[in-house]
Amino acid sequence: MLVLGIETSCDETACAVVRDTAAPADRILSHSLFSQVREHAPYGGVVPEIASRAHIEHLDFLVDEALKSAGIELDQVDAIAATAGPGLIGGVMVGLMTAKALAYATGKPLIAVNHLEGHALSARLSDDTPFPYLLLLVSGGHCQFLAVEDVGRYQRLGTTIDDAVGEAFDKTAKLLGLGYPGGPAIERLARQGDAQRFPLPRPLKGKPGCDFSFSGLKTAVRLVLESLGDSPTEQDKADLAASFQAAVLDVIIDRTRHAIAAFDSIHGSKGRHLVVAGGVAANAALRDSLRQLAEKSGMSLSVPPPRLCTDNGAMIAWVGLERLRRGLTDGLDVSARARWPLDPAAEAKPFAGAKA
Ligand code: KG4
Ligand code: ZN
Repeated sequence: MLVLGIETSCDETACAVVRDTAAPADRILSHSLFSQVREHAPYGGVVPEIASRAHIEHLDFLVDEALKSAGIELDQVDAIAATAGPGLIGGVMVGLMTAKALAYATGKPLIAVNHLEGHALSARLSDDTPFPYLLLLVSGGHCQFLAVEDVGRYQRLGTTIDDAVGEAFDKTAKLLGLGYPGGPAIERLARQGDAQRFPLPRPLKGKPGCDFSFSGLKTAVRLVLESLGDSPTEQDKADLAASFQAAVLDVIIDRTRHAIAAFDSIHGSKGRHLVVAGGVAANAALRDSLRQLAEKSGMSLSVPPPRLCTDNGAMIAWVGLERLRRGLTDGLDVSARARWPLDPAAEAKPFAGAKA
């Protein structure tokens, strides 16, 4: 079985072909990606209109390239999958309409993929993690714990009450003048800094539940920066980046400990797997801390390789494949969605963290 996957929900235009084969290393036949980072960098963040135009300009070429480097023709694929949300609606429409046109022209089934399900199932693409597992999803727009029970079956255990963790990295990087995207820049600078120098807050640490909050941390970084005067030295910036990253990691580890307890109360010994996915999972310091926590908690830890953590077409094609196996395809009238939670029931619930 071969599936073509298209991703256009944010600032990466991506397309990949994956196949249904036992060895994870042989599953990705091609993986084409155009990163729009240079287009958005002057603005310090993603500009939706620029993103949609760039997707239009690059997607056809990337589809061609993905098919060519997989060594196949379009009519050899068994289905066409595309992100149908959540994300920047203009970009999502570009990818979904392209997929609809390809599905219509070839008569192949269309699969409208939830981008978050792409991140959620990426550990099954990279190493066959069995259901159920606890997922920490940390990206630029999302920050949540989910009990992943099956394809299409998710229970949200906790989420952020304000900023996503990737957003906190990006905003802190902007304050430090490091440019966009902020995560990798902060991680690099933090390696040269003293994480003990600035005692930053650890929002919600030790509180019940497993929600997050990062907006106070961002404000604290701003106040420290202001206290350093008009021209902080490179060492000041490195120390602040290191202190920020240490605070984020400290909070994530505390919240994950609580999430493991919540997951255990639902699945007990049935699910001893922790998965971390989304762009921030590319952070090596975070991966190391989570590895230690998983070991102490008697859980396995699965982190997809960095190129599968940040947005990519292979994770979308993989969801297409998992859905196709179950007969879950979509009609050509399916709509693009700016918002699309994996656990709609949880959206209505109050935040445990907000009460604590
Ligand atoms: O999953 P993703 O590519 O796009 C979204 O769906 O949001 O995640 C992008 C986010 C950005 O906020 C970026 O700064 C962050 O992931 N990120 C990182 C690292 N690499 C990317 N954050 C921390 N450390 C990194 N190495
Ligand atoms: Zn993403």
